[in-house]
Amino acid sequence: MPEATDSELMGKLVSLCKRRGFIFQSSEIYGGINGFWDYGPLGVELKRNVKEYWWRCMTREREDVVELDASIILHPQVWAASGHTSTFSDPMVDCKKCQGRFRADQLEEEACLEKPSKSVAACDAEKTEPRAFNLMFKTWLGPVESEENAAWLRPETAQAIFAQFKNVLDVSRQKLPFGICQIGKAFRNEINPRNYTFRSREFEQMELEYFIKPDAVSAAGEPSSEGEGEAQSRPEDWGWKEWHRYWVDQRMAWYRNIGLPEQQLKLHWQTGDELAHYAQATVDIMYRFPFGWQELEGIAARGDFDLRQHQQHSGKSLEFFDADTRQKYLPQVIEPSAGVDRLVLALLCQAYGEEMIPNAQGKPERRIVMKFHPRMAPCKVGVFPLNKNRPPLVAKAKAIHDRLKDRYLTAFDLTGSIGKRYARHDEIGTPFGVTVDFDTVGDGESDHLKDTVTVRDRDTTQQTRVPIAELESWLAEKLA
Ligand code: GAP
Repeated sequence: MPEATDSELMGKLVSLCKRRGFIFQSSEIYGGINGFWDYGPLGVELKRNVKEYWWRCMTREREDVVELDASIILHPQVWAASGHTSTFSDPMVDCKKCQGRFRADQLEEEACLEKPSKSVAACDAEKTEPRAFNLMFKTWLGPVESEENAAWLRPETAQAIFAQFKNVLDVSRQKLPFGICQIGKAFRNEINPRNYTFRSREFEQMELEYFIKPDAVSAAGEPSSEGEGEAQSRPEDWGWKEWHRYWVDQRMAWYRNIGLPEQQLKLHWQTGDELAHYAQATVDIMYRFPFGWQELEGIAARGDFDLRQHQQHSGKSLEFFDADTRQKYLPQVIEPSAGVDRLVLALLCQAYGEEMIPNAQGKPERRIVMKFHPRMAPCKVGVFPLNKNRPPLVAKAKAIHDRLKDRYLTAFDLTGSIGKRYARHDEIGTPFGVTVDFDTVGDGESDHLKDTVTVRDRDTTQQTRVPIAELESWLAEKLA
């Protein structure tokens, strides 16, 4: 089959996401609202799988990371301290001809409003000088819309973690290094939301702030006995460079574990102007989307910038007391910060496939298949009675469905030919289809197949006969 071009692929994916209930335009019946998206039944499950797996790996399976769920609106001083009020902006230009507003650093990629085949950079209409546009959404607390009542929707989840550092430390009795993680909504008034959900105005982040000893306190500040420049071998001796590398490796492995292949991922080490004012180093994990290599996650070494700022602005000590050395100091921070919506989009792009497979008569037939990693697939199992007019088949299939549904999102599907049901589930990426046929209920030609079902593998379309008694453990192994 000819490969779809990248822009065709995005078109097909957007259409499938709507048709199958992954993603809808927000407020679609009113014409939509730019930069906002709603997740339909399957999208919710996919997103939930992403967040649950992140949560499991970042905190449940670790003893050194605890959780926070902070409010979306914080004290305005938080944003003054973090620098967001003064510096969280993108450069914006206006086109004097079409009145369009564009990000000054993306004119090559933005389409001209009058001639969308041209980029804004290629259009010779006069533009204004770039000016800073603050991306935070502003609102007012209480009934009076005045500057002293101004507040902002958080543009990242991170700052609440820094602001609550002391409280969490006191209750969790952690020693350094330890982390605080959070998943939650963030809001940015992007000048030009684009590439479907990739750059939205409302999105979710999964962030970890991992607090470590400053190099001067850990052995990293001392000359290494293994030779200059070599990594310290014991984690307790690591400095920020080793911890930064550690989290980059952890996060890359995590992406591979949810089905993003090595060749679709790369690291981008930020340099010069790209680095935020607070960062000692930042590595972006990039995924090759159909619209190009783009950032999924940033892993920043933030030094003690944030805690120092909040300490200064609040007048409250945020120092850590090290009982081993009897010293007080501000920890440094490594921050892996990922976007849920971007990752969901990457998983959708990665999963989408079109291929020819033989139909029931052995003739080649085109299918669309979403090859999600089983761990991420929204619906895990489809249960199908071969014939909906045969009560014993339906009853047996229903009993199997009822047992599996406690554990997995399981669909019970009666309608259409079995081929149509397989096709429907290929399109939503259900990894396994369980069919109850006449042999299952002892009404077929092969007595020895009584109490067995066929399990169809979505990717290979191979069918395996599995005893019903072993079905749960068979699936558990494949869906772990
Ligand atoms: N606390 C650090 C921080 O917020 P960031 O690079 O601005 O860093 C982290 O954001 C992640 O949040 C990005 O890698 C991306 O996945 C996601 N993200 C940022 N802006 C986004 C937007 N407008 N739409 C969707 N996701 C976004």
